[in-house]
Order: sequence, then structure tokens, then C-alpha cells
Amino acid sequence: MRKLKIKGKLKRVEGVLRVPSDKSISHRAVILGAIASGETVVHNWLEAADTKSTLRIVRSLGTKAHYSKGLLRIKGRNYTFEEPQDILNAGNSGTTARLILGVLSTQPFFSVLTGDRSLRERPMLRVVSPLREMGAYIEGRERGNKLPAGIKGGKLKAISFFNKKSSAQVKSALLLAGIKAEGITEVTEPLLSRDHTERMLKFFGADLIEIPSEKGRTVKVKPTDQLVGREIFCPADPSSAAFFCALTLLAPKGEIILKDVLINPTRDGFYRKIREMGGEITYENEREFSGEPVADIKVIAGKRLKAVKIKPYEIPTLIDEIPILAVIMALAEGISEVRGAAELRVKESDRIKAIVENLKTMGVRVEELEDGFLIEGGRKLRGGYIRTYGDHRIAMAFTVAGLLAEGETVIDNPLCVEISYPRFFEDLKEVVDNFTKLLTF
Ligand code: S3P
Repeated sequence: MRKLKIKGKLKRVEGVLRVPSDKSISHRAVILGAIASGETVVHNWLEAADTKSTLRIVRSLGTKAHYSKGLLRIKGRNYTFEEPQDILNAGNSGTTARLILGVLSTQPFFSVLTGDRSLRERPMLRVVSPLREMGAYIEGRERGNKLPAGIKGGKLKAISFFNKKSSAQVKSALLLAGIKAEGITEVTEPLLSRDHTERMLKFFGADLIEIPSEKGRTVKVKPTDQLVGREIFCPADPSSAAFFCALTLLAPKGEIILKDVLINPTRDGFYRKIREMGGEITYENEREFSGEPVADIKVIAGKRLKAVKIKPYEIPTLIDEIPILAVIMALAEGISEVRGAAELRVKESDRIKAIVENLKTMGVRVEELEDGFLIEGGRKLRGGYIRTYGDHRIAMAFTVAGLLAEGETVIDNPLCVEISYPRFFEDLKEVVDNFTKLLTF
């Protein structure tokens, strides 16, 4: 496998960058486009390994779609799909697998869903159990907790579900199934998880209400066959922008503008936390894209950062940014803490383990906890051999760390960035002074 060597330290980051589009929104645009009637046109659709898995699956279910240079056109099937002729493969993508399980549960045919080695180890019962309760037949390895799984859907009945883990994937799967169920499907979550499915369903004409409740927040969806295809403009992904935000904050000099970034409050916890640490970040030119708030984010280098504590209730708003946040914490003065993040253990890799192990390799004092970690920050990073475990966010976070470390850093599998950010290294080249001297493949 091709490895990446990073040698020498970053001096300056400068430029204007539009990072690739939001992964969560791009998945949902494909799925909603396919279940609606009429045409959906998606501008700036994210073309990356995960979203291509979603597109491949809806095509295998008979959906016609055309993609060229950022523009995706989907001919909606009004929630009537064809039985697939072969096993559906979600690749590395948890969002694809869980949301598609919701869709397949409504269809009267048999299908089989699998994924790559990492996805086949990730828990599915969190979505399989409530979908079974709605009436879908789903069986799989480990009593349905692991892929591959076989699905035979059909007539569903609505349920009221308490989404204890505040998982957006579970909530979305149930809302997608609820569109075709008899009765009103309700999902309550103690902490509001990313709400793109709700926003997009409304945008497509669904009858959906969101109400605060004693236990958190409840969303209710009425069944409908009136979803209509729309034109969607995807914003840039705040999870991808976070790597460039961190790189700039931690560089000795420079300034970057990250264009068109999604700043939905269920997603921008990272940026709020960075401000609390003393980072200079501003939202400029705030506006809306297809029902989602967007801004250009300006980041200025060189400010001293101080340690921060992430509380369990803040986790859903920054869950995917924790690997890069940990790198920032390692360079901020004082002891930082992340708690209530046990979900990180079942992401594309065990991210708590990967973060702790790789930071230790770089000479950082860090303590592993069951649901997070403690980091003693403020000392220099030392280069070392980084194990990505094939996890895109670990690869990108530790490439940033490598650019800030003394000595040589090796990234074992840099190409796994294709999962969410295929042109990550090209974009780095755009904004990093001396890129070709610092990085070799
Ligand atoms: C996602 C939801 C989150 C997130 C994942 C994308 C989504 O996962 O970590 O990267 O698009 O719905 P959970 O639903 O498991 O919290």
C-alpha cells in the first residue's frame, strides 16, 4: 500500500478553499430524490466513495440517475423500487447501510445488504430492531446485528421510538420507513442529532412536525405519497473544512477562507469549541442553501489556544470532528477532556483507540477512557508511524498533525481519504507553502 511521508514543518497556510460538499446531505439528496416523484437535481453533489455507494444502491433498485461534474440528476420512483438482482454493497458507509435499511423495509421484495470489512463489524441492531417492530423482516449475522443482512419489507405500521444514542442514522432510517407506514411515526431523542433528513423531507413536501418534549425532542412524520423532486444546492462539509481550519489555527502564520460551509447548529459544535479555546474564527456572509444555513468561515493563524472540556451533551454536534479536535487539544495549553463519546468506538474504526495510540506515538501524554480521553496539551509533537486503520478521518487528522510535528511522520494508508474527501491532498497543496517539499508519496 502507498504510504505518505511528511518531513519538515509547516510555515504558512494561505488561501480560499471550497472543500467538497457535505457527505450527510449528499447521501440524503440521493435517497430522497429516489423515493420522491419527478426529477431531483443536485448541484455540487459530493462524489466520494461513501456517497457513490448510496448512488450505486439506488441504481441497483432501478433508479435512473445521471452524474457529471458535480451535477446529479435523479428520476424519482415514487417509493416503488425494483427487486435488486444481486447483493447490495454499502462499502465503508454506515449512513448508506442504515438509511437504506429503512428504505428496503418498505419494499415488498427480498434483498441482501453487505459492506466492507469495517462496516460488517459495525452494529446494525440499533436500526434493525425498530424496523422489525414496524413489521419488516430482517435477518443477519449475530441475530441481525451485523451485515450481511437479508431484508423482506412490506406493509409497515408506525411506532414511537426513543433514540437513546441520539443517532441521526437511526432517526433517518425510521423517518424514511415512516413515510410509507400506517400511522404517525415518532422519534424522540434526548439530544438533537443532525437534522438534515427532517429539513430535506420538509423541503420535498413531507408533513413533519418537530416538538420539544420532556425527554428531549420529538419528530413526527405522517405517511405520504406526495414527495416531489426538488433542486438542491449542497453546502461544503464542515467536517472536511475542520481539517483546514485546524491546520490554519495551528500554523505559525496565515489566513484561510473556507467557502460555503454548512453551519447547521446540529453540526457546528467544533467551530464553537475552537472559539472557546481562543481560536480566531468568524462566520461571514451567512445565508441559506436549500433550507440549510451556510457561511464562509475565516480562520486566522497563530493565536494561543487553551485546553477545553467537551461535555457529553455537546458530542452529537461535533462527533465526526473529534479526531482533528484531539490534534488541536494536543497543542493547546492545559488538560483537555472528551467524555460521553463511546460511540466513537463503533465508527469507521475504534476512533478512541486510534486517536490515543497515534497521539502517544507522537509523544503526547494522553489517557484513554472508556467513553473518551484526557490530553495534556502544549508540548511539541514528534513525528512517528501513524496507523489509520483505513479510517479517512484518522488519516486526515494525523496528516495535519504530521505537518506540525518535528521529524518524519509516516501515514500508513493515506488513500483512504477517498471515503469523504478524494482531493484532500490536492487541496492541501493549494494552501500549504512548500507542499512538495513537505509531503512525498
Ligand atoms: C451521520 C450520522 C452520525 C455521523 C456519521 C454521519 C449521518 O452517525 O457520525 O458520520 O449522516 O446521519 P450516527 O447516526 O451513528 O450518530
